[in-house]
Amino acid sequence: MTKYIIANWKMRMGVAEAKDFMEQLSFEEMPENHQVILCPPFPLLGLVQEHIKAAHLGAQDCSAHDLGPFTGDVSAKLLCEMGCRYVIVGHSERRHAFGEDSATVRAKAHRALDEKMIPIVCIGETKEVKQAGETHAFLRKQLEASLPDQDFILAYEPVWAIGTGEVPSLEDIASIHGALKSVLTHHGKGHTPILYGGSVTAQNVSDILSLDAVSGVLVGSASLDPESFSNIMRG
Ligand code: PGA
Repeated sequence: MTKYIIANWKMRMGVAEAKDFMEQLSFEEMPENHQVILCPPFPLLGLVQEHIKAAHLGAQDCSAHDLGPFTGDVSAKLLCEMGCRYVIVGHSERRHAFGEDSATVRAKAHRALDEKMIPIVCIGETKEVKQAGETHAFLRKQLEASLPDQDFILAYEPVWAIGTGEVPSLEDIASIHGALKSVLTHHGKGHTPILYGGSVTAQNVSDILSLDAVSGVLVGSASLDPESFSNIMRG
């Protein structure tokens, strides 16, 4: 089974750092079933693409619109022309800091699919939802409202685990991924890869990837350092 290892640099990398990163990234000893996807900020897509080697290029977001008068937005069509094969949509930072709802996330996923790119649709519960014991119901609703019509990759990222160093237990990850698979199966999409994201590090990645229910990881902070991310790529 393919295991996706995705770097989400967020708004954290500059030109010099990105050049250094690409020079130092090492694919040595990476298992053959690992598929690496690098998602830099938009202006660094060209630079990363030039040095991409065995990885694929992804974007962190795309517009929900077709080409038109949308100042500051970036179209899926342009991302595809830049060499992107994947686009993250609905990351919790977009949902919470920019007020994106699931209908918008779904529209973005469809724009990516229109260009033959694969959307990586993110969902995840907040700490409040978790403490109220409503995680499963919340995730089901968020997934169903964000669900694209065609094939996609799902990333389960508990909001409380992003950038905090807090990670759910392996049992909890397996059980939530199992529940998400049931929802997907109900919609005829049981084959969808389900990734885990939230405080993944070189130390915990092999345990997380060893779970059958986990088809890969979405990595934020630990993807900024080439040595740490090369270790994560090895699993
Ligand atoms: P983190 O971020 O690895 O820094 O927790 C993950 C993400 O936001 O995708």
